[in-house]
Amino acid sequence: MKGNFPIDKFRELRTPFYYYDTKVLRETLACINQETARYESFDVHYAVKANANPKVLTIIRESGLGVDCVSGGEIRAAIKAGFPADKIVFAGVGKADWEIELGLDYNIFCFNVESIPELEVINELAAAKGKVANVAFRINPNVGAHTHAHITTGLAENKFGISMEDMDKVIDVAQEMKNVSFVGLHFHIGSQILDMGDFVALCNRVNELQDKLEARHILVKHINVGGGLGIDYDHPNRQPIPDFKSYFATYAGQLKLRPHQTLHFELGRAVVAQCGSLISKVLYVKQGTKKQFAILDAGMTDLIRPALYQAYHKMENITSEGTKETYDIVGPICESSDVFGKAIDLNRVHRGDLIALRSAGAYGEIMASSYNCRELPGSYTSDELV
Ligand code: LLP
Repeated sequence: MKGNFPIDKFRELRTPFYYYDTKVLRETLACINQETARYESFDVHYAVKANANPKVLTIIRESGLGVDCVSGGEIRAAIKAGFPADKIVFAGVGKADWEIELGLDYNIFCFNVESIPELEVINELAAAKGKVANVAFRINPNVGAHTHAHITTGLAENKFGISMEDMDKVIDVAQEMKNVSFVGLHFHIGSQILDMGDFVALCNRVNELQDKLEARHILVKHINVGGGLGIDYDHPNRQPIPDFKSYFATYAGQLKLRPHQTLHFELGRAVVAQCGSLISKVLYVKQGTKKQFAILDAGMTDLIRPALYQAYHKMENITSEGTKETYDIVGPICESSDVFGKAIDLNRVHRGDLIALRSAGAYGEIMASSYNCRELPGSYTSDELV
C-alpha cells in the first residue's frame, strides 16, 4: 500500500485500468447530502455524463441522488442502476425521437427542452402515447464562466439552449400545447468553475428572469441551475472533497427562491472526479536529446482530457521511492497530442513502475475510445480489491 493504493493487488491486474476509491466517493456523497439537508428545497441530480460505470452509479443511487441524463443510453444506464424514473431529468440539444419515446415510456420527471422544434416533437410524441410530458426550458443566461473555452456553455449564442429574449415566447407556445406541461427553467453556465462569483452572476440573472415572469403571473415550480462546481486537480489528497458548503450556501444566499419552488442541481465532476485514478504501467524510459520520456501503456484513448483541453491530472509514481527526476509523460498512441504532462517531477521511473493519474473519475473512463484498435480500460473499485 502506498498512499491509498493497494499496490500488490494492482500488480496482478492488467493495465491500464480505472481505480475508484469508494470511501472517497461515499464521503463526497455524504457531504452533498449533509450540505443540501440545510436547505429544504434543494435537490441534486448526478450528471451521468461524467461517469456511467455501473459500480459507481450504484453507489450514487444508494445515496439517494437523482440523475441528469443526456441520451437514451444514459437513461437506460440509470434505470439499470436502479434510479427511480421520477428522479431522471433528460437534457440535450439533439434528442432523437426514440430517446424522447424512451423518456415518455419511463415517465421521467422532466425533459429539459432546448428549442421550439424540439418542444413540438415532444408534444406530438406524448400525444401519440396519450401522455403529458413535464418540460423545463434551458435558457442561456449569457453569463460567462472563468473556465476552459471548450466547457463554457452559458453565453448568449451557442448551440445550447434558448435565448433570454425568446423565453416568454416559448413559455406561451408550451402553454397552448396539450401534451406538455411547463414546469421549470434550466440553466448551465459551464464546468470546472471554482469562482463562486460566476454562480452569483447566474443567481442574479435567474432573479431578474423570475421577476419578469412573476409580473406576467407565470408560475415556475422548478429552477435547475445545472452543474459546474470544479475540483482541485492540483491537490487531490489535500482537497478530496469539493467545497460543497460554499457552493450550496452561495445559491441559498443569492437566489430568491419563491415559496414552493424546488432548486435542482446537476453535478457531475464534483461528485466523481476525485474518487478515480487511471492506473498505468511504464513501458519504457527513453532518453531524448534534452529530456527523458516516460512512455506509459495508457494513452489519450484512456484519458483524453489532457489532449483535448490541455487539462492537468496530477501524476504519481506509486511504486518508486527514488529521487525525483523530470519527465515528459506520454502515451503510446500515434498522435503527438498524446501527452499527459511535460516536465513532470516523478520519483525515479523504471520500466514496470505504476503511474497513477489522479482526479480522473470524471470524464475519464466514459470518454475512452478504441482508437488504434485498443481495448477499453478496465475498472475496479476499492471494495473489490481488499
Ligand atoms: N448539466 C449540463 C446541462 C451540462 O452540460 C453539464 C456538463 C453538467 C450538468 C455537468 O457539469 P459538471 O458538474 O460535471 O461540471 N468533458 C469535459 C466536461 C464537459 C461538461 C459538459 N456539460 C471535461 O472533461 O472537462
